[in-house]
Amino acid sequence: MSAGLQRVFSGVQPTGDLHLGNYLGAIKNFVTLQDTHDCIYCVVDMHALTEWQDPAALVANTREVTAGFLASGIDPKSHIVFNQSQVSAHAELAWIFNCVARMGWLNRMTQFKEKAGKNRENASVGLFTYPNLMAADILAYKATHVPVGEDQKQHLELARDIAQKFNNDFASSIQAHGLAETFFPITEPLITGPATRVMSLRDGSKKMSKSDPSDMSRINLTDDRDTIAKKIRKAKTDPLNIPSEENGLEARPEADNLVGIFAALSNQPRGEVLKQFGGKQFSEFKPALAELAVEVLGPIGMEMARFADDPGYIDGVLNNGAQRASEIAAPIMRDVRRIVGYIG
Ligand code: TYM
Repeated sequence: MSAGLQRVFSGVQPTGDLHLGNYLGAIKNFVTLQDTHDCIYCVVDMHALTEWQDPAALVANTREVTAGFLASGIDPKSHIVFNQSQVSAHAELAWIFNCVARMGWLNRMTQFKEKAGKNRENASVGLFTYPNLMAADILAYKATHVPVGEDQKQHLELARDIAQKFNNDFASSIQAHGLAETFFPITEPLITGPATRVMSLRDGSKKMSKSDPSDMSRINLTDDRDTIAKKIRKAKTDPLNIPSEENGLEARPEADNLVGIFAALSNQPRGEVLKQFGGKQFSEFKPALAELAVEVLGPIGMEMARFADDPGYIDGVLNNGAQRASEIAAPIMRDVRRIVGYIG
């Protein structure tokens, strides 16, 4: 690792189109962190299996998320891009964490409750233990920093609890093997920028999500320019003008969302956007937002389309990344096996 021993890990599920929330909440920050950290970015195909995926669609979506990473500016040579299932350390460490994490901890996970809904008895066991696999993703590389959107915060707190409990439960074994007392790092979540929770364009109380049945609720990274502009034109707003101060966005979720998106896309704080547009109507703001979104996302979408024609290249990136990721995880897993008392 480079100076400072800081390693970034993050993952994105290949379960559907990448959207503006994934981009602003996560991928844009992944790109920036490449300047200061050693980064590992993972397409988490094992997490995708927690809900039914058509196998052919999983292959296509895994390639598409990879293309989204590369098109956004992630450099797979200086950093690592791979798909989770190619590195067996994830599954192996997840099992150990299944035995470290407590039922009570997982029972509190709001994402499980949301996803399982009323039909809890019929949810997969994998959906319930999903956060343990997430902790394994991060800790198999002893990653110190994890950039994510706001919705992953609770899962990252669990990853910290798991690391802490492992370090405590196995403290004497860790010591007996001459290893550092804090064997697993207590990972820092990085939830940064003005758009850590991008909301649906149709309903400011709902998160923008791949699983929303309405395509008008989200901007996909593969949308063409006309579609992007149309979705912004039709985005829900309220009848008031844009406020001049940030507290004027309180209790106005749609306005708050669009201003946050503008701020994130133009790399400035919300306050600056309000200085520019305060007092103006949405009919003036929306075309400016559409133009900005097309300017930023248009080239990414075009680049993704180019990669879509070259699946061989994408698979090569994933295979190479998996090889390098395995090499980082191998010595860590060797220590883990000794710590817990496995022979061999
Ligand atoms: P996933 O695939 O749902 O989302 C990928 C990333 O996008 C962020 N995100 C959003 N950010 C802002 N606004 C939104 N509307 C929005 N929707 C999604 C997510 O917070 C995430 O950062 N469990 C993770 C994947 C994962 C992972 C990991 C992440 C697996 N292992 C280890 C970090 C570390 C997930 O389902 O993300």
